[in-house]
Amino acid sequence: MGDTVGSSNSNASTTGRATSRWSLQGMTALVTGGTRGIGHAVVVELAALGASVHTCSRKEDDLTECLKKWASLGFHVTGSVCDVSVREQRDRLIRDVSSTFDGKLSILVNNAGTNVTKPTIEYTAEEYSFIMATNLESAYHLCQLAHPLLKASGAGSIVFVSSVSGVTAVNSGTVYAATKGAINQITKNLACEWAKDNIRTNSVAPWYIKTSLVENALQNKIFLQKIVDRTPMRRVGEPEEVSSLVAYLCLPAASYITGQVISVDGGMTINGGLYTSG
Ligand SMILES: NC(=O)c1ccc[n+]([C@@H]2O[C@H](COP(=O)([O-])OP(=O)(O)OC[C@H]3O[C@@H](n4cnc5c(N)ncnc54)[C@H](OP(=O)(O)O)[C@@H]3O)[C@@H](O)[C@H]2O)c1
Repeated sequence: MGDTVGSSNSNASTTGRATSRWSLQGMTALVTGGTRGIGHAVVVELAALGASVHTCSRKEDDLTECLKKWASLGFHVTGSVCDVSVREQRDRLIRDVSSTFDGKLSILVNNAGTNVTKPTIEYTAEEYSFIMATNLESAYHLCQLAHPLLKASGAGSIVFVSSVSGVTAVNSGTVYAATKGAINQITKNLACEWAKDNIRTNSVAPWYIKTSLVENALQNKIFLQKIVDRTPMRRVGEPEEVSSLVAYLCLPAASYITGQVISVDGGMTINGGLYTSG
């Protein structure tokens, strides 16, 4: 009898442990650029797994509409209007996050990013600074600002939304490629530097994903065909195919994974070139 009771208790606690490894219940997250595209999918994914999420974008109307929609779905999402390319606005964003979440942040997803694609010799100084500030400086500074909050959570996780452009040359523009290559290297360095604080750091590196950032490019049928021809799975990706990996990397189930850059690319980066046609 004692054995039976003991084993049923232990089954229950094993089940409880298994469930909590796949849940973000009780955790807090900041996702930059959550009103569209990959960031939007990440907010939904994290909130659906139980996290309280704070997000931001530059446009108040878009943010208000998203927050209203998420509240109607029962998700706990708050937001700030913030241009992450501006230092003072990043300071204010982290102050908002700290007061919303009582000084503790479990998850930081550095997602907001932009691009201007052109030949290298045509970039202006303003374009260079704009891409660098939005993609690289913002993510770096937000990591610095969020460090005490992530440490205070007891088990922090940073995920960068990088790009295959930081892994291999894909003709995306050299400034963008430089920002994403730097993000991938920061991922590895921070993983080592902040492991002692129980903060994990990983990157996801997407190939073409259907979002507003690339919709003009993908509308060009010849360009789209070139992309598909290089991709063994012969299609571009959906935002939800990136957000699922971001969420996984934030789960307790991923507790021994840090410093990794994982491509989400339908096999594009491992294609040696034989599989170019359907
Ligand atoms: N889509 C792809 O094919 C692809 C491939 C590889 C990597 N990525 C990366 O994925 C990330 C997300 O891209 P996406 O395709 O989802 O882009 P998107 O559809 O253009 O969405 C970008 C989101 O970020 C916000 N945002 C942009 N600049 C911001 C700023 N300065 N401050 C605050 N919020 C800002 C936008 O809102 P507001 O405009 O209202 O501010 C929007 O919510 C980027 O880092 C991008 O480099 C995308």
